[in-house]
Amino acid sequence: ELVIQTKKLGAEIQPTMYGLFFEDINYGADGGLYAELVKNRSFEFPQNLMGWKTFGHVTLKDDGPFERNPHYVRLAYPGHDHKRTGLENEGFFGIGVKAGEEYRFSVWARLPEGASSEKIRIEMVKPNTNAERHAFASEELTIDSKEWKKYQVILKPTQTEDKSTLRIFLASKGTIDLEHVSLFPVDTWKGHENGLRKDLAQALYDIKPGVFRFPGGCIVEGTDLNTRYDWKKTVGPVENRPLNENRWHYTFQHRFFPDYYQSYGMGFYEFFLLSEEIGSEPLPVLSCGLACQFQNSDPHAHVAVCDLDSYIQDALDLIEFANGAVTTKWGKVRADMGHPAPFNLKFIGIGNEQWGSEYPERLEPFMKAIRKAHPEIKIIGSSGPDSEGKQFEYLWPEMKRLKADLVDEHFYRPESWFLSQGARYDNYDRKGPKVFAGEYACHGKGKKWNHFNASLLEAAFMTGLERNADIVHMATYAPLFAHVEGWQWRPDMIWFDNLKSVRSVSYYVQQLYAHNKGTNVVPLTMNNKPVTGAEGQKGLFASAVWDKDSQSYIVKVVNTSDEAQPLSLTFAGMKKKEVLSKGVCIKLQSTDPDKDNTLDNPQAIVPVQTEVSAMGNAFDTQIEPKTFAVYKFVKT
Ligand code: AHR
Repeated sequence: ELVIQTKKLGAEIQPTMYGLFFEDINYGADGGLYAELVKNRSFEFPQNLMGWKTFGHVTLKDDGPFERNPHYVRLAYPGHDHKRTGLENEGFFGIGVKAGEEYRFSVWARLPEGASSEKIRIEMVKPNTNAERHAFASEELTIDSKEWKKYQVILKPTQTEDKSTLRIFLASKGTIDLEHVSLFPVDTWKGHENGLRKDLAQALYDIKPGVFRFPGGCIVEGTDLNTRYDWKKTVGPVENRPLNENRWHYTFQHRFFPDYYQSYGMGFYEFFLLSEEIGSEPLPVLSCGLACQFQNSDPHAHVAVCDLDSYIQDALDLIEFANGAVTTKWGKVRADMGHPAPFNLKFIGIGNEQWGSEYPERLEPFMKAIRKAHPEIKIIGSSGPDSEGKQFEYLWPEMKRLKADLVDEHFYRPESWFLSQGARYDNYDRKGPKVFAGEYACHGKGKKWNHFNASLLEAAFMTGLERNADIVHMATYAPLFAHVEGWQWRPDMIWFDNLKSVRSVSYYVQQLYAHNKGTNVVPLTMNNKPVTGAEGQKGLFASAVWDKDSQSYIVKVVNTSDEAQPLSLTFAGMKKKEVLSKGVCIKLQSTDPDKDNTLDNPQAIVPVQTEVSAMGNAFDTQIEPKTFAVYKFVKT
């Protein structure tokens, strides 16, 4: 029996409570959310023609128009009309295009010598099947200037292909220089030209996330300081954003992606804009001057505390970029990019999963400078890589000493941990910083892939986050995205290939919480005892909230056991004339704990809603085994 004590509402639930954590891992950005289809578009990968095949007379040059991306290619007549000069791009695991849709091809070009006009032909071809090496999209572009100029043309494929190739031919007898070769679907999220893949951005929007953390975890810090995520390089014209090595191109879980780089095409402006468009508070995280998994002795891995000034200035400038007037240096950069209004930044994270005294001693000067210049900004510190071990024990008191506003905790743990942690926050010190559960996911023991039971246990654990919403102010599952051919880490929330995407059961768990987060916690008891979330209440986990906007009580119950269980909800303390009407029950369940949604069967396990009715102030039902149920009753 669950008794929901409606008489006195509990803590307010923060609008930021359930959000998203974005990281460019698993090809989450280039090759994923960022809709660019050309890999190595500026010829700046260390092997400059990585991702490209050339034929005929193609030479690489390095005095191009974009200072930070100086390389480009020169295409020259091969000497005979039957020969060809050109190049092909392989895209990210191929280039996915849909029949009938429009794709914007653009390129910077010039005529270095000779004629006043030359031509290139642009084609989409299906590779590796000789019979079908014909083009299924083809257009010509006339290049007519000796100065560098941007040209573009729309391609309309007649076939749907998930792994096509982009081919560019010299189609006249002269010489042409090409730089920043790009191909985007015209139909991006909100139609932005330097845009995002629509299905993936839509999936983010559909969660109604309260907060959006970017640009990631380890990505923030890089394998060394030079390859940390440097936000200043990610704003301004895309053609001049330099390439960065992706921290996840190294071997992890036996997977190695030597061609995993960051174009910075989706940079901080795009992240802020996306946050705004999906209705989230933006939460950027910056390097604290320590590389990811830093080693004390390695000078490339940490900045001396006395040399942190430029890093601290980056944080202050970021706040100006987000919120400053258009007359300020960085506010003007934002305005010139198309957003004169401020982004209204409220939070900033400093450092990701750092540890040891090296972290707080670096965080401290950041905090001093930010507090002084921007007391309105909330600062998020970290509890280290382990949510319970030595670093956690050491860093939490340090975060209290420094008066961080929130502390970012990370936990990728097995089923047993999630089952035992429903009461995790019940006894946290209410006087210290608030909690940001910034990266978590249930990693099934021996089953490191997405499956229903792991998601169910996440739902169970989240009842504890919700009951403790006075101290837990943000929670974000991680990682967010994974390309089915390019992942380094799993489970993940949303999987995709070049054309399709699938929302995992963990996605639906997050969505059910975010859509039903309510505005206030409501205390509840289970069989006359306070709900603690401790393992042992017959595998049942529960939380309850009041939602002021819809005037309803929402009760979340998770039955992690293998038995169906009788369930009675009593809403104690309601006034005599008040009744509960219009009830709904939304359930997420599966008889196969190892199953999840797939690209071929994306709807295998999705929430199912039915109408239910309460009798007065009570509702009796039964909850099936392995079920996450959300009961919602409007009070009239
Ligand atoms: O989410 C994957 C990684 O896990 C993050 O980059 C890092 O913060 C954590 O170790």
